[in-house]
Amino acid sequence: MRAVLATGINPDDPLAGLSVADYPEPKPTDDWTTVSVKAAALNHHDLWTLRGVGIREDRLPIVLGCDAAGLDEDGNEVIVHGVIGSPGWHGDEALDPGRSLLSERYDGTFADQVAVPRWNLLPKPAALSWAEAACLPTAWLTAYRMLFTASGVQPGGTILVQGASGGVATALIALGRTAGYRIWVTGRSESKRQRALDLGAAAAFEPGARLPERVDAVMETVGEATWPHSLRAVRPGGTVVVSGATTGDAPSAELRRVFFLQLRVVGSTMGTRDELVRLVRFLEQTGVRPIIDQILPLEEARAGFARMAAGDNYGKIVFTV
Ligand SMILES: NC(=O)c1ccc[n+]([C@@H]2O[C@H](COP(=O)([O-])OP(=O)(O)OC[C@H]3O[C@@H](n4cnc5c(N)ncnc54)[C@H](OP(=O)(O)O)[C@@H]3O)[C@@H](O)[C@H]2O)c1
Repeated sequence: MRAVLATGINPDDPLAGLSVADYPEPKPTDDWTTVSVKAAALNHHDLWTLRGVGIREDRLPIVLGCDAAGLDEDGNEVIVHGVIGSPGWHGDEALDPGRSLLSERYDGTFADQVAVPRWNLLPKPAALSWAEAACLPTAWLTAYRMLFTASGVQPGGTILVQGASGGVATALIALGRTAGYRIWVTGRSESKRQRALDLGAAAAFEPGARLPERVDAVMETVGEATWPHSLRAVRPGGTVVVSGATTGDAPSAELRRVFFLQLRVVGSTMGTRDELVRLVRFLEQTGVRPIIDQILPLEEARAGFARMAAGDNYGKIVFTV
């Protein structure tokens, strides 16, 4: 089968280790099954893998891709939940210390076929296109858990999203405004800020800008570049939810500010199958749909990776198989 592979690791030039090549079809065992992939979405995670974050060189080559939608072995339309729990784990699989994400230990979704535990499949509603469904299991699930599970903020509250254009950021804006939050955004360019407003953000600011008032919670995926602003933007007793550190993870912790203002710093990663089911239902009920920047054939995956590495995407880049 054809597959998009990480064949090498290069922290400075991630695309150097990317190739589209023939690869053996998966051979699922026991309670695993095979999905024929129709669409799979690109995530920043795929760039991290090529940079050597979260993977060891001796696991290469590995098929990239964390999430997908496709057909199961009986021809049912399914969405693939990308969090693979460890045997015997019960409870929130996002908290399982032995969990992995597709493309970390097991081959990922950028291929004609992917093998996953049967438990990781859920029905794809007809109302969602293949490409829309493929965007949900990583970026949109992460945004759902950040907002609705981790933030502790009720609808009507004010949420600052750091970054306007990314997969997680656009999901936060779309989910948050639909659920009744007042969403404020920072974005690095005028055009990205305008698109965030078009998507439903109530206000958009330059990175680091002084806000009209402090917010109830900040959604942080940018990391070092925005962390000081996040800690200044949140109200006393408010929450910073962090699920990424795209620009680095060595900012000052600003401990005095954290304890004096009694801030909550809450980590959030991916989500559970149950949260993914509820996310899918949320989209069905509200009509909200993932913001898709580009849909490319799998063979042209390199162009999508280059676009994300340059920070040019607005929303999700999706590969069709
Ligand atoms: N913990 C988890 O489970 C989880 C899940 C999903 C993603 N993540 C992490 O979250 C981060 C975002 O993921 P994504 O897939 O949404 O990535 P993406 O689509 O590439 O988005 C990148 C985002 O970072 C913002 N950004 C601001 N300053 C930046 C800078 N100096 N350099 C680069 N980007 C900057 C961009 O905002 P502008 O609009 O201003 O360009 C954009 O919103 C990644 O680090 C990813 O690994 C974690």
